[in-house]
Amino acid sequence: MLQKPIGLFDSGVGGLTVVSEIIRQLPNEDVVYFGDVGRYPYGPRSKDIILQFTRQDVAFLREQDVKFIVAACNTASAVALETVAGENDIEMLGVINPGARAAAETTQNGKIGIIGTHATITSDSYPKAIHHIDSNIKVFSLACPLFVPLAEEGYQDKEASYLIAQDYLKILKENGIDTLVLGCTHYPLLKKLIQDVMGDGVTLIDSATATAREVKDHLEQKGLLRDTNPDPDYKFYVSDVPDKFAPVAERFLGRRVDNIIRVDITKY
Ligand code: DGL
Repeated sequence: MLQKPIGLFDSGVGGLTVVSEIIRQLPNEDVVYFGDVGRYPYGPRSKDIILQFTRQDVAFLREQDVKFIVAACNTASAVALETVAGENDIEMLGVINPGARAAAETTQNGKIGIIGTHATITSDSYPKAIHHIDSNIKVFSLACPLFVPLAEEGYQDKEASYLIAQDYLKILKENGIDTLVLGCTHYPLLKKLIQDVMGDGVTLIDSATATAREVKDHLEQKGLLRDTNPDPDYKFYVSDVPDKFAPVAERFLGRRVDNIIRVDITKY
């Protein structure tokens, strides 16, 4: 069991921001990643479809014989993870609870902003998770769908992106938040831009960092954390043409990505 890889999935490349943190914080673990690039994006889809896709993503990872599953996608975590976790006898963690815990620990003035896809924001998962920790915290949620393509297209330094961010985030600034959760896997790529717009008085919470920390704690508690592995193995599976995946993935992961294999996810 100890030697088995950690499995992660996302609607596409965004979950690689979580993989990157897992590799940094758990350097002795093997990793299997599934990116559903063929059916991306999940954010604008209905609950039923996101649930169906998440079931298939998990079924595929189970076939890879992983020891733990991370839903490295805010949308899947927010909308489907609780149901799918209840249907499976393998342990899973999504990115919502770690992000919510980190935000609740960080805020000083009790005002937290959440940004994410339409599905994540509509699900109300982040406010519920935060209120579960402290019901006095005020949570302001906002869908910022345009941030996803901007991050994918490498638009993090463009004037146009800055204008879009100013327009989106104006309301959160007016609400006086001191903590902002980047509730979408793509948003960490726009961290600098978002920080510039929000100003130094606002702390950004990257769910990827908080999630990797909780995966580590969890595996440690269960005695499933590897303490040595001279040659960790990273495998990447996608549901559409791998050659489009590699360049974007390398930007997300900040390293070369080999071993990209295409799978037919509709079989699961
Ligand atoms: N991975 C998704 C998330 O974290 C963003 C992209 C999508 O809409 O599928 O919410």
